[in-house]
Amino acid sequence: MTTDTTPKDTAPAAPTPGQTVLDARGVTMRFGGLTAVRNVDLTVNSGEIVGLIGPNGAGKTTFFNCLTGLYIPTEGEVRYKGKVLPAKSFKVTAAGIARTFQNIRLFANMTVLENVLVGRHTRTKEGLWSALLRGPGFHKAEATSRDRAMELLKFIGLEKKAEHLARNLPYGEQRKLEIARALASEPGLLLLDEPTAGMNPQETRATEELVFAIRDMGIAVLVIEHDMRFIFNLCDRVAVLVQGEKLVEGSSEVVQGDERVIAAYLGEPFEDAPGAKEVAEVEAAEANAATQTDAAPRKENDR
Ligand SMILES: Nc1ncnc2c1ncn2[C@@H]1O[C@H](COP(=O)(O)OP(=O)(O)O)[C@@H](O)[C@H]1O
Ligand SMILES: [Mg+2]
Repeated sequence: MTTDTTPKDTAPAAPTPGQTVLDARGVTMRFGGLTAVRNVDLTVNSGEIVGLIGPNGAGKTTFFNCLTGLYIPTEGEVRYKGKVLPAKSFKVTAAGIARTFQNIRLFANMTVLENVLVGRHTRTKEGLWSALLRGPGFHKAEATSRDRAMELLKFIGLEKKAEHLARNLPYGEQRKLEIARALASEPGLLLLDEPTAGMNPQETRATEELVFAIRDMGIAVLVIEHDMRFIFNLCDRVAVLVQGEKLVEGSSEVVQGDERVIAAYLGEPFEDAPGAKEVAEVEAAEANAATQTDAAPRKENDR
């Protein structure tokens, strides 16, 4: 059923053997002559945190866009809990998939609470128009929504800033608020696109805890991230995309040890990877040598 290429002898410890939440098969996305994603299969099961890694331009965000109805894949099929996804992103959210974006997309001039309330509108019977027109039933629904939104703000630790404008939050808190807004649609699957980008190590650590807590709430998570320590700590399973194709998939241990993965990242050393320090030293020495050469002009450069 899955196309997991995990070697049998090193199968990851499955947290809770669950149902397949996300089942993407043969997903291909072309933009004109460019194939950004090529024939990718990926499943996410309930109770799982799955990582998606790969060098810049590998097609990770494009793949996310194919899972959320932002793009309609050129080929392939995406199912959520057995049903083929609708081709509109708001319908995908209503079906149960929520996401955050690589570049934060908040309503900067709305309050923190209002941003979370916006995330709830796919879940309230009244819907967005009723909310805007203050229709009958709106006030009751609003009270329930506010309670839930405050609960979520508490969950991410921003309840004291509920009335602050989103744009006044520090960067790390804006990222958290995006997660709260995504959770407000009561998803069964959460997609996080580089949730720790720009965060300091403490914030990254806190985000790790937050993602575990989200998983423990019964929400499956698929996460794109460049911070390898974060990914390998967090994920039950990791898939590696390189030039649009899935190169390897398996447990953190399997993926970390795979030479193809290491080769794919050459030129983009892992943060904290063994060797990164040495590479930096060599680069510094080379830069130093170059400066000295420049200081003594060579004949062929004179004209
Ligand atoms: N809307 C688009 N139109 C054309 N090319 C795109 C579009 N979105 C992404 N691409 C291209 O697809 C490739 C994969 O990009 P992306 O999915 O953003 O990579 P990643 O998230 O892994 O860094 C890149 O070459 C990028 O330029
Ligand atoms: Mg991206």
